Amino acid sequence: MSIVHVETPGGNYPITIEPGQLGGLDALIPGNATAIALVTNPTIAALYGDTVMEALQRSGKPVIRIELPDGEQYKTWETLNRIFDVLLQHQLDRKAVLVALGGGVIGDMVGFAAACYMRGVRFIQVPTTLLAQVDSSVGGKTAINHPLGKNMIGAFYQPVAVAIDTRVLATLPDREIAAGLAEVIKYGLIIDADFFAWCEENVQALRNRDPAAMAYAIQRSCELKAWVVSQDERESGLRAILNFGHTFGHAIEAGLGYGTWLHGEAVGCGMVLAAELSARVYGLPASVVERVRALVQAIGCPVQAPDLGAERWIDLMRVDKKAEGGQLRFVVLEELGKAVSRAVPDDALNAVLERIPQV
Ligand code: NAD
Ligand code: GLY
Repeated sequence: MSIVHVETPGGNYPITIEPGQLGGLDALIPGNATAIALVTNPTIAALYGDTVMEALQRSGKPVIRIELPDGEQYKTWETLNRIFDVLLQHQLDRKAVLVALGGGVIGDMVGFAAACYMRGVRFIQVPTTLLAQVDSSVGGKTAINHPLGKNMIGAFYQPVAVAIDTRVLATLPDREIAAGLAEVIKYGLIIDADFFAWCEENVQALRNRDPAAMAYAIQRSCELKAWVVSQDERESGLRAILNFGHTFGHAIEAGLGYGTWLHGEAVGCGMVLAAELSARVYGLPASVVERVRALVQAIGCPVQAPDLGAERWIDLMRVDKKAEGGQLRFVVLEELGKAVSRAVPDDALNAVLERIPQV
């Protein structure tokens, strides 16, 4: 087992990375918990629901199970309210613990429910997608979508533990593995050039889900994310670099319709565009832009941005939490392994958007 520690003003907690730990989740339940609510979706419940229920019941606490519909389109106020309905019907109190078993959609919604229910109850993240294991379960960003923007309603609220069972990756579709790998290589690009080079060397092992390569990629990603959020929990500065590629990516997701491209796929392609933008504003060498494009392609994500139309790109990117006073901000690379968030000149942005082939 490896353990990464997260320390933030909102709470300190361990990320435990261990194959097979779904069967031992009772060990993470705090002794004074009065009840447990396991929240998941039918896809994950069919694969891992019984194992997790049995483990949680071994804690001796009452356990209720809540299944939410599967999909980004259900990351809504209505679905969130279903969690509150069941918690209230079962009269769960402030010492109850919520357990989020699933990908980023479940994790973000359960985290937000935990932040709101009775003004805050404890919750444990049990991420089951690669993307959730390396990114969304760590750092306490919780949210639901609003019809006018993704993740626009939410809270910073830290879990009391993150339990990563690497065995669950065996049942993930290849496309979801590729989407998760986009967030893995992001950490190399923004903070750790050596890790980026390691990803380049091990890309085939990662795509093949080689257990040792996957375990290292997950651990290193969690270490790097923990390092960032420990310094800037609420994104007043440094944490914004974790959004590298995301301003373009969110525009792709919204522009094509949520679910057409996976979040990680859109981020992968968005990182290629953000690297091109970095070349224009910081003179990032063309050879580095090419390495970004080659690795995004090698992990199995699209590198060709969709034709949304230059004006629509801009409109979509304005709905971005980094925008300040209507001014767009982008995370750009000063060099491989060093990212900053800044406003960029319109002509540099337009030059990148104009290069997207029109269909
Ligand atoms: P997801 O939660 O929709 O999961 C993808 C699909 O895989 C779903 O159909 C799910 O049921 C299925 N699945 C999950 N685990 C499985 C397993 N082990 N085997 C087989 N199928 C499995 O998608 P995601 O990519 O995990 O998360 C995307 C969401 O995360 C987005 O809403 C995004 O906004 C959010 N996100 C949040 C943060 C954050 O910091 N909070 C960071 C990145 C992304
Ligand atoms: N995924 C971006 C962040 O956690 O800040």
